[in-house]
Amino acid sequence: MARRGYSRPRFPSPHPIKINLILIFAFFFLVFIFHSRQWHLPDDEQKQQTFFHNGSQTDQMADADLWDAPHSYGLRPCVKPTSRYKAATGWDHYMTVRSNGGLNQMRTGIADVVAVARIMNATLVIPQLDKRSFWHDSSTFSDIFDEIHFIETLREDVKIVKELPLELANVPRARKHFTSWASTSYYEDMTQLWKEYQVIHVAKSDSRLANNDLPLDIQRLRCRALYHALRFSPPIESFGKKLVERLRARGGKYIALHLRYEKDMLSFTGCSYGLTEEESEELRIMRENTNHWKVKTINSTEQRLGGFCPLTPKEIGIFLRALGYPPSSLIYIAAGEIYGGNTRLLELTSRFPNIVFKETLASQEELKAFTNHASQTAALDYVISVKSDVFVPSYSGNMARAVEGQRRFLGHRKTITPDRKGLVEVFDMLENGQQTEGSSLSHIIKTMHKNRKGAPRRRRGPLPEMKGRARLRTEESFYENPYPECICAPKKHLG
Ligand SMILES: *[C@@H]1O[C@H](CO)[C@@H](O)[C@H](O)[C@H]1NC(C)=O
Ligand SMILES: *[C@@H]1O[C@H](CO)[C@@H](O)[C@H](O)[C@H]1NC(C)=O
Repeated sequence: MARRGYSRPRFPSPHPIKINLILIFAFFFLVFIFHSRQWHLPDDEQKQQTFFHNGSQTDQMADADLWDAPHSYGLRPCVKPTSRYKAATGWDHYMTVRSNGGLNQMRTGIADVVAVARIMNATLVIPQLDKRSFWHDSSTFSDIFDEIHFIETLREDVKIVKELPLELANVPRARKHFTSWASTSYYEDMTQLWKEYQVIHVAKSDSRLANNDLPLDIQRLRCRALYHALRFSPPIESFGKKLVERLRARGGKYIALHLRYEKDMLSFTGCSYGLTEEESEELRIMRENTNHWKVKTINSTEQRLGGFCPLTPKEIGIFLRALGYPPSSLIYIAAGEIYGGNTRLLELTSRFPNIVFKETLASQEELKAFTNHASQTAALDYVISVKSDVFVPSYSGNMARAVEGQRRFLGHRKTITPDRKGLVEVFDMLENGQQTEGSSLSHIIKTMHKNRKGAPRRRRGPLPEMKGRARLRTEESFYENPYPECICAPKKHLG
């Protein structure tokens, strides 16, 4: 739960010197254009006026800084297998899977087991989805995903079948809890199981593969599985698209805010900053009574100072204003029910009145089909978040990581990751009067987030002080940043 706080900055690999030269050249070119306009249109008063005042250059630059994707140096998705890769043939060994967790834990877990099935030469049976998790969702694989597309897209990689062949339904299965963050050699050893069993049942699908040091073809297969094969079912895809169109019709650009301020999250993290006594007590009791949450006593103050708490709606409001987003900005809230309801939301909507929810964009009638299925509403939020101009998660988690990763993959769309630990210090200065909302606060917060906008960088390795298997846990998730394996530099033109 306590995610690592990295401080090591890394630079993207494309030759920085060359890029600097290009930028300097571009700068002089712009200066030249600017001057030639002045020389060549001296009497065109009207035009000059518009040029300097209406869409003035600084305004446009500020606007681009708010809404445009960071420079991506021509990097592109690359998921094609290498020339060594062989098409899968049918295998008479089968792998059944129970996928665990919420929507995005299941999605990335399924991408992992696709790769595991490939390594172990197994035919994969369409995974069963988690119905017992906190979200109690009865949706099946084909309710959420386009099953035929999944099978077809991965045809060359792994054979996938809808169900176990009838004659194998009752044979004894090897029931395995594969170790987390495993290597290819671990799974190659596991093929020993085929000597005794024809079916292996995988009890958990999340994080079954290491983030790093796997063959390139396995990493690319994970990307093909997640970004190409695991498409949402047609009703979710088309409704998601419709909601995006309605958002665009309201104002063009929008921010998707993953406002992780739901009751379960606050209870789990033990974060009661800004809540009433009764609310804190309610959350404490919920934590006490939830068996699978192991940590029961949490000091909320320490948790917050460590940067381990979701930002509150008020904090998010201050944060986005400080970054320069105007009050009229359109913000879509990708989240479940906000704890404390409208009263707490008011602290955000007072700064950004143009806030919308699914319920603002669609009728009860339209939403009816989705709202009783947590995974399906989460899928709609996912679609809308990936397509937004700006994505801001108020807390890290499977959804935030998956959305960030896909946005990087699709062309480094802007994702602003709040530096929660740094921000808490600033918010406390506001609270005790050492700072006020305004340009100096804005300067501090902008500087703090200069390198947290989703620009290209390599995936971070383990924390330096970590040894052995513990190190695997501290690596940045493959699905949060599939660079360099699935994002490549443009081909160099030789000669
Ligand atoms: C899987 O099958 C291929 C092709 O028959 C073979 O070369 C490879 O060794 C097999 N892998 C394992 C782990 O058994
Ligand atoms: C929680 O931690 C803070 C800061 O370390 C400390 O001042 C406070 O007394 C702690 N509260 C409890 C209830 O232990």
